[in-house]
Amino acid sequence: MNHRSIAIDGPAGAGKSTLARKLAEKLGFLYVDTGAIYRTVALAVLRAGVDPADESQVIPLLKGLDIRMAYGEDGMQRMYLSGEEVSQAIREHQVSGVASKTSAIPAVRDFLLDFQRRQAREHDIVMDGRDIGTVVLPQADVKIFLTAAPEARARRRLLELEERGQEADFDTVLRDIKERDYQDEHRPVAPLKRAEDAALLDTTQLNLEQSLMGLLALVKEKIAQ
Ligand code: DC
Repeated sequence: MNHRSIAIDGPAGAGKSTLARKLAEKLGFLYVDTGAIYRTVALAVLRAGVDPADESQVIPLLKGLDIRMAYGEDGMQRMYLSGEEVSQAIREHQVSGVASKTSAIPAVRDFLLDFQRRQAREHDIVMDGRDIGTVVLPQADVKIFLTAAPEARARRRLLELEERGQEADFDTVLRDIKERDYQDEHRPVAPLKRAEDAALLDTTQLNLEQSLMGLLALVKEKIAQ
């Protein structure tokens, strides 16, 4: 049987992961956070102490990489690196910067392509990332590009970091977001861009509940439940 897939792409801090998770919950689909997968590769690179922007140093690491993904009873996606659970460690601020660099390496993207597609072959999924509608699942049943103004995204990220007890200030978070946007949008391979057939949802003025309603409306248009 063919499984159904919903691809959600967009920049950091647009609310993608929270919304994609809630959408998956409502639909009874599996939620796949591909950012977490890229972050796990980044953590391996960071731990190995190699330059994340240098392909010739990163590529040799890929061969021995043991990355696994599992779901807890709470339905949360957990990431494992060489058997160790790293679901928390990959959320560190430092890992974000490294992930942005390592994810620009074509060999890293190729390495993860099949890993991601396999999930869609085996389950009904909501998958979020940067190139899901354009590269990973071009045949997705529903494609959504979720975005928000950089300032709104920075405010949300700051709140998130504060909730986790991490220190940060608005200007630094905003600068990081703009820098990551630039890197993600300008890399030669699988840059962040809206698929031609993706519906656009701008959440700048929307709260979580309103954004979720917007998403559900778009999904219902395309998938008869
Ligand atoms: O969504 P996130 O912040 O967890 O993503 C971490 C980094 O990984 C981000 O810089 C973009 C990259 N990424 C990607 O290139 N492709 C994806 N499908 C998901 C994330």
